[in-house]
Amino acid sequence: MKVFISGKIAPDALQKLEDHHIQITQWKETRQITPKELIEACKDQDGFISVGPNKINADFLNASKHLKVIALHSVGFDQVDVETAKKLNLPVGNTPGVLSAATGETAFLLMIAVSRKAFFSYRKIIDGKWEKYEPATELGIEISGKTLGVFGLGKIGLEMAKKCKAAYGMQVIYHNRSRNEDAEKELDAKYVSFDELLEQSDVLTVHTALTDETKGKFSIDVFKKMKPNAIFINTARGGIHNEKDLTQALEEKIIWGAGLDVTNPEPMGKNNPLLFMESVAVLPHIGSATEETRAAMAELIVENILAGLKGEQIPYPIY
Ligand code: DGY
Repeated sequence: MKVFISGKIAPDALQKLEDHHIQITQWKETRQITPKELIEACKDQDGFISVGPNKINADFLNASKHLKVIALHSVGFDQVDVETAKKLNLPVGNTPGVLSAATGETAFLLMIAVSRKAFFSYRKIIDGKWEKYEPATELGIEISGKTLGVFGLGKIGLEMAKKCKAAYGMQVIYHNRSRNEDAEKELDAKYVSFDELLEQSDVLTVHTALTDETKGKFSIDVFKKMKPNAIFINTARGGIHNEKDLTQALEEKIIWGAGLDVTNPEPMGKNNPLLFMESVAVLPHIGSATEETRAAMAELIVENILAGLKGEQIPYPIY
């Protein structure tokens, strides 16, 4: 059996696939594979491990219906045309659960970094602009005792909320499509309407999937309903906020700061104004990038691939 992998994955996972006599072809270039190259690369394959933001759309799926399985190297699957995959009866699997702690930690890291202008201050040193002690400029804000608003309180949101409550005694409010009663019990989290979430959050953290409903949800009108001292955090998908509107909201001090692990587009250009703002921290989509989590994700990918190649039900299907 043959499997194409569109990037690097944990070496143990590669070894496991090879131990099952699977012949692997890997995309080794530093640039992302193009849609045309991807179709070509998958032409003679039995399985495909999708690393990176490849569009698993109708064009790709129709050209690749011979595949027995597609294993995503992500929990998110907004890049997949699920309806077409279903119609073609093509199994697609993801990596649920194992990256919640690491991604929650990234949201927490961004919150603290933004609140103390850490990235901006670091840049001052490397740009040779640390000249003297300045007691009254570029001050941060404190987080203790403030209100954390979670938009999408699932597994990742819960990890962020737990850390915020334990470290800073933050009150947790959230908005979801449905109530998360476990979180209400565990963290005394309070369910609020979307508008209440905007009005009451000192830190608003996004942990929902990118869907038609959430695409561009955080627009200028939404930012205008937030507190002027609010920090906006997004470690979910860049498409959930409108980046131009976020830039405007920060420039016009409609909100205080923002921490992003996801941007729109990705990669973000190096001259993007967000990168130069005092109370902004941007990371290059590293939410789940720890040795432990990437190894755990690779395990689930291997399980999906092995089951799919055998024609068995894959253990972590997206539909
Ligand atoms: C995920 O698993 O969805 C991460 O964001 C990587 O894409």
